[in-house]
Amino acid sequence: MQVVILPQPFDVAQYAADFISKQIRHKPSSVLGLATGSTPIATYQALIELVRQGAVSFQHVHTFNLDEYLGIPATHPQSYRHFMNEELFNHIDIDVARTQVPDGMSNDPIQACTRYEQAIQDAGGIDLQLLGLGRNGHIGFNEPSSSLASRTRIKTLTPATVADNARFFAPGEFQPHLSITMGIGTIMEARKILLLATGDTKASAVKTMVEGALSAACPATILQMHPQATVVLDSAAASLLEMREFYQYIEHENQKLQANGRPY
Ligand code: GLP
Repeated sequence: MQVVILPQPFDVAQYAADFISKQIRHKPSSVLGLATGSTPIATYQALIELVRQGAVSFQHVHTFNLDEYLGIPATHPQSYRHFMNEELFNHIDIDVARTQVPDGMSNDPIQACTRYEQAIQDAGGIDLQLLGLGRNGHIGFNEPSSSLASRTRIKTLTPATVADNARFFAPGEFQPHLSITMGIGTIMEARKILLLATGDTKASAVKTMVEGALSAACPATILQMHPQATVVLDSAAASLLEMREFYQYIEHENQKLQANGRPY
C-alpha cells in the first residue's frame, strides 16, 4: 500500500484528479470505478476543470459506481445516480450510456447484483477504482463484518452509517437502510485502487486500515492485500499513523526517482 500524505483536502483532490487523468491518458477507454460521499466531490471538481482545459477527455471512458441506496429512484436527489450526474457526469464529455450505477429500484435486486457483476466483466474489468472511507472502515457500503471475498449484493447499513449520511436527507424524509454495493472481492479485482480520506473524523479508520491487522471488522484493511493500492490522505486524516514519517520519506524518494526518469 502506497500512503501519500498531503497538507490539505485541496491537495488530495488535485493529486487524485491528476492520478485519474494519467490513467485515462494512458488508456482512453479506461474502466473507472467511482465513489460517492463528500470526500470525492473536490476531486470531481478538479477533473471537470481538467476536461474544460482539454487536459483529459472522458469520451471513451466507461464507469461503474460502487453502490446505490435500495428503494429510492435515480431521480431522487439523494440517489447516488443523481449525485454522480450532478457532481461529475453532467459537466464532462462522457457518454452517459457508458456510466453505470447499481439499480436501486429493480424489481429483482438480487438479479440486478448479478447483472452488475457481469457488466463489469463484459467491460473488461475495472482499471482504476476510486474509494472513500467510512468512519467505521467501510468501503462502498461494505460494513464491518462483510465477507472480505464478497461480491455485489444487498447490504444493510449500520446505524452509524445511517446517522453519518442522515445529513443529506431532510428531517422526516425516508432514508434507506439498505443498499446495493459492489463486494469487497469485486473491489479487489480492480487493477489499481485509489482511496481518499480527509479530516480528523477519518483518522482512526485510517490508522486501522493502514497499520491494523487484516480483519472484516475494518473492511478497508483488505487494501493491504492489493498490489496497487494508493491511499491519499490530508494531514488530519493521517494524524494517528505511527509510521507517518516513513511513508513521507518513501513518497519523497519515489518523487526523486520519478524526476530522474525511473517510474517505480
Ligand atoms: C458512504 C458511501 C461510501 C463513502 C462513505 C464516506 O457510505 N457509500 O462510498 O466512502 O459514505 O463518505 P464521506 O466521504 O462523505 O465521508
